[in-house]
Parts: sequence; C-alpha cells; structure tokens
Amino acid sequence: QKDDRKFSVLIAGGGSTYTPGIVLTLLNGLDKFPLRKLKFYDNDGERQKKIADATAILVKERAPEVEFEATTDPKEAFTDVDFVMAQIRVGKYAMRSLDEKIPLKHGVVGQETTGPGGIAYGLRSIPGVIQLVDYMEKYSPNAWMLNYSNPAAIVAEATRRERPNSKIINICDMPIDIMDRMAAILGFKDRNDLVFRYYGLNHFGWWTDVRDKQGNDLMPKLKKYVAKNGYWVGGDYDANTEKSWEETFKKAADVYKLDPSTLPNTYLKYYLYPSWVVKHSNPNYTRTDEVEAHRQKLVFGECKRIVEAGTAKDTEFKPDEHSTYIVDLCTAIAYNTHQRMLAIIPNEGAISNIDPTATVEVPCLFGSNGPERLSMGKAATFQQGMITEQNSVEKLAVDAWQEHSYTKLWEAFSLCKIVPDAGIAKDILDDMVVANKDYWPELK
Ligand code: NAD
Ligand code: LMR
Repeated sequence: QKDDRKFSVLIAGGGSTYTPGIVLTLLNGLDKFPLRKLKFYDNDGERQKKIADATAILVKERAPEVEFEATTDPKEAFTDVDFVMAQIRVGKYAMRSLDEKIPLKHGVVGQETTGPGGIAYGLRSIPGVIQLVDYMEKYSPNAWMLNYSNPAAIVAEATRRERPNSKIINICDMPIDIMDRMAAILGFKDRNDLVFRYYGLNHFGWWTDVRDKQGNDLMPKLKKYVAKNGYWVGGDYDANTEKSWEETFKKAADVYKLDPSTLPNTYLKYYLYPSWVVKHSNPNYTRTDEVEAHRQKLVFGECKRIVEAGTAKDTEFKPDEHSTYIVDLCTAIAYNTHQRMLAIIPNEGAISNIDPTATVEVPCLFGSNGPERLSMGKAATFQQGMITEQNSVEKLAVDAWQEHSYTKLWEAFSLCKIVPDAGIAKDILDDMVVANKDYWPELK
C-alpha cells in the first residue's frame, strides 16, 4: 500500500543556534521524511525572527510546497504537529555564563551540564521542558517530542517523574559526534556502518563494543588510536573545531586509560580530571564566551547575510551530527524501522545492576511505539560506582526542585564528584540561589 503521509514538524527553541542545521537536514531529506509543515516556536520572538526570516527564504527556494511559520503563540505552534524537536535554553547564554563562572570562582569545574553549573541549569530547564510537553499533549496529543534541551539527564529524570506517560524522548548528540569520529578513524563512510554497545547516564557513558556490519570487532583498532590521540581526528575533519573541543577530544586519551576495556564519553573528563580542567579554564572567558564569539556569531551572521541577499542558494549552513540524528530518529519512528539508536530513558533493567528507576543512556530499537531498550548487562565495578553516585546527584536535584528543598540541593552539590567538600558546595549554592532567583523555586 502506498504511503503518502507528509509530516508536520515543530522546532521548539526556534531561535536556537542549532535550528538552521536541522532545517537544512529536513530540506535535504524530503525524499526520506516528507514534510507538509515546518513551524518554529520560541518565547523570544525577536531572536527567533532572525533565524525564521532566513528559513523562510530557504524553504521558498528549496521546498515551496512546505508551509512555514514562526510564532510565539503556543496554541498556534503546537496545533497539528506530528513531531516536536525541542532545544530550548532557559535563561539563555547569560545564565549559562553564570553556571560556568560561579563554580570556577570557588575553584570548581564550571560547565553547562556538569557539576553545580549543570544542576543549576537543570532547575531552570525542568519547568521549561515540562511546559513544552504540556502544550504538545494539549494541542497535538499524538505527537512525539524529541528533546535535546540540556541538561538532558536531569530533564529526563524530571519528565520520568512528572509526566511518566508522555511521548518525550530525551536525546544527546555527544555519542553521535564521537561515533562519527570513530567512523572517520576507521575509514568508514558514516556512523551507521557501526554496530555498538554503550551504557551509562547522559554525558556519562562508555562503549563496550563497536563492530562493523559483518560482526568484526573494531575495538582494538579504536583503542590503539584513542590511547594516543583521544577522539581528535585532525586535518580537514577538524578544520572548524573550536579550541575548547580540541582539548576535550584529545583529553579522551587520558580518560580512556582509566578503563582500557571500554571507550569513554568525552564528558567524563570533567569527573575524572576536575583539577586539570579547572587549571585549564579561564574564569573570565568560559565556553559561553567562545559560543557567543563563534557559533552564535556565525549562525546569526549567516542568517543576516541570507536575508540581505534575498537568497540562500549559496548558504554555508549544512547538516551535522546534531541535525541528522534528530531527523533520523523522527524517520525511524514515522516509518517503524526499528533502527538501533541511543536515547536517555528509564533503566528498567537495561543495566542490570543499576537502579531500575535511574534514567540511563542505552541503545534502543526505535519504531512507531517509540524506543525499545536493549539489555546492556552488568556495569563493571568502576562504572557501577560512578553511575550510582552521579545518578543520586541527579535524583537529589529533581527532589530539590519538586520539594523546594535547599538541603536536597546542597546534598546534590556535595555528593557531586567534582565538588571537594560540603562547605565549598554551600558557598557555590548560595551564589547560585541569588543568580537564579528569577528561575528557581524559592528554596526552604
Ligand atoms: P540558544 O540559546 O541559541 O537557543 C535556545 C532558544 O531557546 C533561544 O532562542 C531561547 O529564546 C529559547 N527559549 C528559552 N527558554 C524557552 C522557553 N521556556 N520556551 C521556548 N523557548 C525558549 O541555545 P543553543 O546553544 O542553540 O542550545 C539549545 C539547547 O540545545 C540547549 O539546551 C543546549 O544545551 C541543547 N543542546 C543539546 C545537545 C545535546 O546533544 N543534548 C547538543 C547541543 C545543544
Ligand atoms: C554547546 O553550546 O555547543 C553545548 O550545548 C555543548 C558545548 O559545545 O559546550
């Protein structure tokens, strides 16, 4: 039977720097994932408009049959939608900057999703993402939401508790970026040529197996490379990679050495080498400053150029791992392909010796009923210890948000591996309470 469905997609966080990449990927892939509508939603209409004006030109030139609109009205945005791609940043770069700089002032890693910075961002993100879920359930109850909004681990734990039956799937592009690198290191065309086993929490996981489609073990070759170079590929591949990411990809070599039986996620550097990270940080110029000077400037500059030229024929925007992954996931759900893809979901036995209520990151088969998790077996002692501690931090952060509890939040900060003691945790927390007063519940 002929399948002539066409889909309606909403990008929530239309003003995100990642939006143009997704638009390009959608427009390039209309033969595999046909669209009838593309919509943007953001609560900052002015920021979104800059991306939307360029997108309107792109859509008109490449797929005039697709209806496009950008709005700040939730009803208009969420009505008649099949897929919501969420990528909001509650508090925007101004608050990200504080997430990074406040801990650094106290000698602790300052990072978007790690440690006190990540927890602070979590307490801002939770209500923002829940609001998007509620809009989707009200106006398009059959839709699926694929959520990139960070910190994904805390957001996933909160949506698991607060909206257990909602069709939200939390995802991350970091392992995808690393698998693209693995494919490049091995000389494969793309990451989909690799079959992998991976387990952990978001930004906190390990590959235990990587094979080609014929079943040949590729781990020995990868390990040899990573032990020397981390995930740094260099050459043309990394021509546009920012400085801080170069350092991160290279540092994976040291992270790998702690457990040579697996390959690590890059974010583990923050947990395993926090003093090194602090020593290599500039408290006055953090990742936010780099993003504003680089990615944000490039994206908004290119949108402005398109609008002024009145054409996007020669645009520099291109698909990347972030955009292709989310579009591949929609396609797997829409066409019930059962493609094996990573997601952040309730454990329920996928890692047998980890709390079944932990939200873990494991491969799943994706079809029209959503993800079906694959069993990854037992975590080794090192991983089990790390995962249990970090998951408790994430659970305490969500407890704190739900109960408005200062003590639970202080416990979360204190338990976190990168914070040296409860006194420093309290100093950071007290600064963060003030900085987040417009976003956090009032803590008791
Ligand atoms: P950005 O600041 O450029 O864009 C975020 C947009 O969200 C802004 O336009 C902002 O106005 C909007 N926004 C904020 N709060 C909102 C709300 N409550 N409702 C609607 N819109 C809201 O951010 P970015 O750097 O492009 O990143 C976007 C998000 O994607 C962040 O959460 C980031 O951490 C996340 N991200 C995730 C991954 C991943 O793999 N999970 C990778 C990259 C980025
Ligand atoms: C970003 O802003 O790109 C992040 O979400 C991840 C990073 O690069 O720090």
